[in-house]
Amino acid sequence: MKIISAPDYQSMSRKAANIISAQVILFPRSVLGLATGSTPVGVYQQLIEWYKKGDVDFSAVHSVNLDEYRGLSPEHSESYRFYMNTNFFNHINIPLQNTNVPNGLAPDVEEECRRYDHVIGDLGGIDLQLLGIGHTGHIGFNEPDEDFDKTTHCVKLKEQTIQANSRFFKTMDEVPKYAITMGIKAIMQAKKILLVANGASKADILYRSLFGPITPAVPASILQLHNDLTVVADEEALRVVREKCPEAIG
Ligand code: F6R
Repeated sequence: MKIISAPDYQSMSRKAANIISAQVILFPRSVLGLATGSTPVGVYQQLIEWYKKGDVDFSAVHSVNLDEYRGLSPEHSESYRFYMNTNFFNHINIPLQNTNVPNGLAPDVEEECRRYDHVIGDLGGIDLQLLGIGHTGHIGFNEPDEDFDKTTHCVKLKEQTIQANSRFFKTMDEVPKYAITMGIKAIMQAKKILLVANGASKADILYRSLFGPITPAVPASILQLHNDLTVVADEEALRVVREKCPEAIG
């Protein structure tokens, strides 16, 4: 595991974007696993800027997103498909047909989960997976549980996650209670993983994930077993790691 510290959000975003652009420059046909949420917005903005300068070309890239809310259409302004199109895909030259997000409106959710696993399998797996981390320690929407859920599945979101997501919706009733998420297996089989985190509210969970016991009660803790994990985090998110394991920060 490599932990890279950044003084602030902008610097975290630039360092993470550097890793993704290097991946695409070296391997133009890369399969990128992508995340939504507030943390990666700056990463996408930086990549768009470099794309516009002509520094990076996404025309041969494929992408698979981690998750989608159950019940939201791709046109819903809070759906993850809408987020990806507006924050990233519409501003770069990735062909939209190369991009994949679970279908939150699929009538048969089990079938949609199997289809999504096939999409990932047919692409040959993920070359670089970008992850954020939830306050519960979730990655994708793999919430704390008794086991690690391996394949794509429909998940009932934890109260803490629903509360965190509510900032994007007008009323609590509108906040989705279920999501379709990629499983731990596809994430762990990614050749490289890049975890981004910022802000003081992530400091405890980041420490527990990276240095605590490996347990499905903290889903991100499984990342300790990955052999190519890079964490890029700002100093606020790294506060507890810096306090308890300063030597781990490179
Ligand atoms: C998003 C996702 C989630 C988020 C996590 C952190 O696709 O899979 O795991 O990465 O909830 O969200 P933010 O970045 O908003 O704190």
